Amino acid sequence: MSAPQNRESGPPVVAVVGGGQLARMMAPGAAELGVRLRVLVEDPASSAAQVVTDAPVGAASDEAAIRSLVAPDGGRAAAVLTFEHEHVPNALLADLVEHGTPVRPGPGALVQAQDKIVMRQRLTELGVPCPRWAALPASSPEEGREALAAFLADVGGSAVVKTSRGGYDGKGVRVVTSADDVADWFAAVADGGPQLLVEEKVPFTRELAALVARRPSGEVRAWPVVESVQRDGVCSEVIAPAPRLSAELDERAREIATAVAEGLDVTGVLAVEMFEVPGPDGAPVVLVNELAMRPHNSGHWTIDGAVTSQFEQHLRAVLDLPLGSTEPTAPWTVMANVLGSQLDELTDALPDVLAAYPEARVNLYGKGVRPGRKLGHVNVSGADLDEVRDRAVAAAALLRGEAPVVVDTIIEEKANV
Ligand SMILES: Nc1ncnc2c1ncn2[C@@H]1O[C@H](COP(=O)(O)OP(=O)(O)O)[C@@H](O)[C@H]1O
Ligand SMILES: [Mg+2]
Repeated sequence: MSAPQNRESGPPVVAVVGGGQLARMMAPGAAELGVRLRVLVEDPASSAAQVVTDAPVGAASDEAAIRSLVAPDGGRAAAVLTFEHEHVPNALLADLVEHGTPVRPGPGALVQAQDKIVMRQRLTELGVPCPRWAALPASSPEEGREALAAFLADVGGSAVVKTSRGGYDGKGVRVVTSADDVADWFAAVADGGPQLLVEEKVPFTRELAALVARRPSGEVRAWPVVESVQRDGVCSEVIAPAPRLSAELDERAREIATAVAEGLDVTGVLAVEMFEVPGPDGAPVVLVNELAMRPHNSGHWTIDGAVTSQFEQHLRAVLDLPLGSTEPTAPWTVMANVLGSQLDELTDALPDVLAAYPEARVNLYGKGVRPGRKLGHVNVSGADLDEVRDRAVAAAALLRGEAPVVVDTIIEEKANV
């Protein structure tokens, strides 16, 4: 394939693989900067296709679809190819790079967000603090089980087994006390399924996330480190900045994320999920959980709570434009996810939620309701963390179709204590 040619002049086109909410939320930033988005969507009704006019339909695994996304027949070649998820064929990306299409993040970086074994190996080489871990041999189920039993004995009886590829939102993560607990996964490995790794079960006090953006010419900017609250393996709330985080640990977590971005040559937004654990002297330290090389749920607060949102920053970074300020615009911003809903249509709740919480920034993704599905989020910013958090959570509850929580009463009760 020859290098894509610019067939007409005009603003740069950013090609994005994936039609979910992350691609959708790139649209406002693209509109403001005057750059074009072309998004490869799974379905014409997908979240991103509802707001991006140039949205060809195709699977992320379809080589022809990605080639035509980058250089459509009769259309303008993309300035850069980027992603809203990591499930993309890497060999094809390498070929596109070889033939002159900028792919950001590049395939060499992306593999560490696609494969948790590759990621752990690379982070360990870089000297990044991680939980103790081991890859479980895939040669035979017996060897895999033996290695897991030995690891369990070593770490005191319980550990976390993960599939190296394909997991998200806690699917592909299981706490185990015996090899029998993942018998089905060992069977899947034998059938050519993803390899497995095991990690010590980290006694974390909370989960943090450090978000940075890096452009090809080297500039890196980091947002304040946030706390992410998980329920059943899924992020339910994010508090920005992380409460009670010392300036030293904030700095340390940002340094780790920056070192990872530089060490792995990541371009675009990088989210580094971390565990906060008590260190040897009792003071908290961080261990890296996993990486995402794209805008991330832990960064949705930046849309309304920081000078530059992660989505616009991602576009700037992949286009190698100067990065925007990552300063917060309020003392606190809390993001509450809307995970599933009892309503058929979330917009049915708008009259109530917008009336009750005029300061809330509601962001709905246009997705069909399914139990537990990420359907939208609410950001609330302000000076009083308890109030901000109560209101964000209560607004999200209304969108889930739950009975209204009378937040004012809660605040009054608090005031009366
Ligand atoms: N080593 C570990 N120790 C304790 N909890 C873990 C460990 N690894 C993962 N978890 C828990 O499981 C959640 C999901 O794991 P993660 O590797 O981030 O998978 P996913 O790709 O599904 O996000 C984490 O956010 C954390 O709550
Ligand atoms: Mg995770």
